[in-house]
Amino acid sequence: MPLGQTPAMAATPLDGKVALVTGAARGIGRGIALELARLGADVIVAGRSTVQSERAPGTIHATAADVEALGRKAAAIKVDIGLPGGAESLVDESIAAFGHVDVLVNNAAVTAHAIFLPLWDLTREQFERTVTVNVTAPFVLTQLLTKQMVDGGGTVINLTSRSANLVPADPPPSGPLDPTVLYGSTKAMVSRMTNALARELKPHNIGCYALDPGFTRTEIIVRMMESTPRAGVGNPVEWAARVAGWLATSPDAMAHTGQVVSTTQAFLEEHGLPL
Ligand SMILES: NC(=O)c1ccc[n+]([C@@H]2O[C@H](COP(=O)([O-])OP(=O)(O)OC[C@H]3O[C@@H](n4cnc5c(N)ncnc54)[C@H](OP(=O)(O)O)[C@@H]3O)[C@@H](O)[C@H]2O)c1
Repeated sequence: MPLGQTPAMAATPLDGKVALVTGAARGIGRGIALELARLGADVIVAGRSTVQSERAPGTIHATAADVEALGRKAAAIKVDIGLPGGAESLVDESIAAFGHVDVLVNNAAVTAHAIFLPLWDLTREQFERTVTVNVTAPFVLTQLLTKQMVDGGGTVINLTSRSANLVPADPPPSGPLDPTVLYGSTKAMVSRMTNALARELKPHNIGCYALDPGFTRTEIIVRMMESTPRAGVGNPVEWAARVAGWLATSPDAMAHTGQVVSTTQAFLEEHGLPL
C-alpha cells in the first residue's frame, strides 16, 4: 500500500465515481451508501430526515459523516421526492455538488402503514403519494441522470420487493405486514420499468437492476417485530448492500441487466460475497 494511505483510501473499484442513494438516512439505503463508500465512491445521501427521532432513527447528515469516516466525500441533500419538483431539484443539487453521478440507487419508498391499508380504507391521496415516491421519482431521477452517464457508462439500482409478484386470490391478505393493493403494485411497476429501461440503456453501457433485498432487518422492521414471533427473522442490511456493491462494480453484473436480482444466501455465496 502506498505510504500515507489508510486502508479506506486504498485503490477501490469505485474510485472517482459518485453514487446517489435516496432514502439513505437509515435502513437499506444507509447500508448501500456505506458499502458504495467502502468500494471507493463519493456518496450523495438524499432523504428528508435531518433530525433524529424515536420513530425514525438516523439522519442524512449522520450517514454522510459515516461516509466521510470511510475516507470518501459526501453530500447530504434534504429532499422530499414525493413533492412536485423534488426529484428534479435533487438532480440539480447533485450535479452542483459533484458534477456527475455514476451510480443511482432508487431506494427511498413509502413503507409507512398506508401501504398495508385495504382497498376500502385507502385514500386517493395516499395512493398517489406512494406512486409518486416509489415510481415517479425513480423514473425522473433515472431519466435525468442517465443522460449524463452516456459517455462513461453507469449503474441504476431500483429497490423492488417480492410483493411485486402475483399472488393467488385465495386466501386474502391476512395480517398487518401483508402488503395490500398499494405497495406491491408500485413495486411491480418498478420491476417492469427496470426491465424496459435496461434494453434502452444497455447500448450506452448503463446497467439497470431491480434489487429485491428480501425481508430485511432494518431499524424499523426490528422495532416492529421485536415482540412478535418473527423477531430476529430476516436478512441483515449488509446483504442487500453487498449485492448492490457487486452490481455497481462487477464486470459480470451486466449479464443481470433488466432482471430482478434477489438477495439470497445462495447469491452471496455464488459471487464470493461475505455473509
Ligand atoms: N426492509 C425490507 O424488508 C424490504 C423488503 C423488500 C423491499 N424493500 C425496499 O427496500 C427499500 C428500503 O427499505 P427500508 O426497509 O430500508 O425502508 P425504511 O427503513 O422505511 O427507509 C426508507 C427510506 O426512504 C426515505 N424516504 C421515504 N419517503 C421519502 C420521500 N418522500 N423523500 C425522500 N426520502 C424518502 C426515508 O427517509 P426519510 O424519512 O429521511 O425521508 C428512509 O430513509 C425500499 O424501496 C423498500 O420498499 C425493503
